[in-house]
Amino acid sequence: MICMSLVLCSVLYLIRYQILFPKGTRIHETLSKTTSSALQELFPKVTRIHETFSKTTSSALHVLFPKGTRVNETFTKTTSSALHREQGSQPNDFPDVLTFVDNHWKHENLCKPYKMFLNHSDFLLLRYTTNAGSVKIFTHSLKDGMSLIISRSGAFELKTINRVLYQLEQDPNMNLIDIGTNIGQHSIAAAMIGRDSIAIDNAISNIEHACASAEYLNIGSRITLIHNILSDSSGKRMFRYSATHTDFGVNHVDSDGIWDKMKKKFYEFNFGKTVQENSTTLDNLFFLPQIQKFQKVFVKMDVEGHEHRVLLGAKNFFKQLDVHGIIMEWTWHVKRPSSKIIKTLMTEWNFKPFEFFENTESDLSSINSDLWPPDVLWLPMKMH
Ligand SMILES: *[C@@H]1O[C@H](CO)[C@@H](O)[C@H](O)[C@H]1NC(C)=O
Ligand SMILES: *[C@@H]1O[C@H](CO)[C@@H](O)[C@H](O)[C@H]1NC(C)=O
Ligand SMILES: *[C@@H]1O[C@H](CO)[C@@H](O)[C@H](O)[C@H]1NC(C)=O
Repeated sequence: MICMSLVLCSVLYLIRYQILFPKGTRIHETLSKTTSSALQELFPKVTRIHETFSKTTSSALHVLFPKGTRVNETFTKTTSSALHREQGSQPNDFPDVLTFVDNHWKHENLCKPYKMFLNHSDFLLLRYTTNAGSVKIFTHSLKDGMSLIISRSGAFELKTINRVLYQLEQDPNMNLIDIGTNIGQHSIAAAMIGRDSIAIDNAISNIEHACASAEYLNIGSRITLIHNILSDSSGKRMFRYSATHTDFGVNHVDSDGIWDKMKKKFYEFNFGKTVQENSTTLDNLFFLPQIQKFQKVFVKMDVEGHEHRVLLGAKNFFKQLDVHGIIMEWTWHVKRPSSKIIKTLMTEWNFKPFEFFENTESDLSSINSDLWPPDVLWLPMKMH
């Protein structure tokens, strides 16, 4: 072809180019689209793993704390298969155990290898079943009321545990604050759906049981245990155990007249003396590096009538954290002045009380709190 002029040549060149290369252009586009979508189809797990990993590492956890290696352990221990590990196939996977004493947090070596307890009369390995699945956990002997119920029906207070799971599932980044963990039922269930917990209990035997189950199930990195009384300030409180040291469900802080109320209900129950032990507050959790993973939380609280004191020690906790709700035992606050303290604080912090069912709830705001059910769910007003 002979070009008669620059303009004609340019036009011809453009036409020729468009005739010859559109397919090439499209192929190129298709190719890049295919590559990226193929990548997404082939490697969604890689992407998600990477996200999870960077979220975990982005918290300054392992800069601040000696247990930085837990970041990697968390990484490998989220798979459900890890929960069913063969006995003895892995090294110890103990939770961190911390206690607040003399105005600071320190590590405590309360975890012992679960194998030490396999033939122990106070360490039964019983099947535990909730909406999170079914595993075996260490319970107390069957002289402990809660353990007896687990042996018979697979869980104690299953309705509450399943509701905690339901609440956690509302947001993938929500973790659990488990106050009065006992043998760790709620925290274990939360770990089974991949959530972290700070689990608090003052009875050493309860801490040992939660440790043994966490190691046995290979979920130690998901649970931080706090061995303290939780109250409105740090210091000393009187704590009452059962006389025989075989029942752990009704241990309590002896304050605000709760003992008078309990005596009436448990007139046959054999209680021991009170022992002076160490208390801390929810606000002191801010001095733990572990709190980094707990910016969005759900709270379960069952502390036998001391709930109001726990809340009085939680003013920063409620201000600074995104608290998506609380389930608390109400039984011991019926016709007690503590009920007013709880209602005032929860209202001030913009929560509303509900009776809860599996996945629905009904508003209790207009009902006399002496008539509320034994367990109450508080939800933020902004969500209701
Ligand atoms: C985590 O694992 C990676 C690769 O497996 C390793 O390079 C890194 O040092 C580990 N980090 C810690 C804190 O152990
Ligand atoms: C537990 O006790 C049984 C007999 O009662 C014994 O055969 C077994 O070896 C013991 N296991 C441990 C871990 O001590
Ligand atoms: C309470 O704290 C004191 C130190 O003030 C300590 O000696 C004691 O062992 C603690 N009690 C428990 C049960 O850990």
